[in-house]
Amino acid sequence: MLIRPMTDADVAVAEEISDDAFFALDTASRLPAAPAPERRSPAQRTAWRARTRGFLASDPDGSWIAEQDGEVVGFATSFLREQVWCLATFAVRPGLQGAGIGAQVLDAAVAYGADAPRGMLAASVDPRALRRYHLAGFRLHPQLTLRGSVDRSALPVVTGVRDGGPDDAAWMDDLDRLRRGGPHGPDHERLMAAGRLVVTTDRSGYAYTNGRVLALLAARDEQAAQTLLWECLAGAEERYELSHVTSANYWAVEAALAARLDLVARGYLGLRGMAPPSPYVHHGALL
Ligand SMILES: CC(C)(COP(=O)(O)OP(=O)(O)OC[C@H]1O[C@@H](n2cnc3c(N)ncnc32)[C@H](O)[C@@H]1OP(=O)(O)O)[C@@H](O)C(=O)NCCC(=O)NCCS
Repeated sequence: MLIRPMTDADVAVAEEISDDAFFALDTASRLPAAPAPERRSPAQRTAWRARTRGFLASDPDGSWIAEQDGEVVGFATSFLREQVWCLATFAVRPGLQGAGIGAQVLDAAVAYGADAPRGMLAASVDPRALRRYHLAGFRLHPQLTLRGSVDRSALPVVTGVRDGGPDDAAWMDDLDRLRRGGPHGPDHERLMAAGRLVVTTDRSGYAYTNGRVLALLAARDEQAAQTLLWECLAGAEERYELSHVTSANYWAVEAALAARLDLVARGYLGLRGMAPPSPYVHHGALL
């Protein structure tokens, strides 16, 4: 087994392994009421590759490949943002899982962040992943998902928000430092390109939404956080989903249940050196 840094040339095969691994996991762990798992669309595959190339550009030593007989069989991608190390994604080719490949490639990524006082990752429900994260020193905090169609009659009138843009990045980075120990920096640009940025006019918080999912939300207090969430819910299409809600963010559960979304538990926020951030709904890969 060769463990080596990921390069641009590995990105396409890593994306295929990731799509195969998560599709197999979603199929095996599907709840009876959940929609049938889907493969990534061509647009999602392109976005995945672009995001991963972004990690290689900002953190060339953060992403690692496991190679067996000249074939890529697994990988882990990670990045540092000041005080916080984040694991973006981690997968081993289905059929080769459970044989120690993941442990080796994860160790290399974790070593990259060893000097960072804090660490974050969003874990799937795969028991193999959870075992690895626990053994790597991460504490696992259950995540809630709220999804369904929004009852518009339950939404309050929202004031004090506006669309944000690149000029807001500096204060949003300060808020990120406060909440998780590091800015989103170059990741804000990617998030802005992928959806709508809503900010409070007094700069007390921001949220990224695309009409179908809440991608990320950070705020100075729960009132600002709820205001932003109401605005995201008001712009929801037929169905809306907020995943990655820890119980430290019960303000989000209250607002989403008031809007008649359904509540389920799914996945874990893995943390070291920090408590679950609040008010904060993390992004699955950009945390
Ligand atoms: C998570 C994943 C990357 C781990 O890689 P891997 O090569 O399977 O991991 P390893 O074999 O190194 O470690 C798995 C651990 O779980 C144990 N394990 C194996 N099969 C298991 C099972 N069915 N249930 C519970 N534990 C299991 C192994 O014994 C090992 O623990 P140990 O080192 O204490 O013995 C891989 O399984 C995968 O791609 N899963 C699907 C995608 C996913 O969920 N990725 C994580 C995203 S957050």
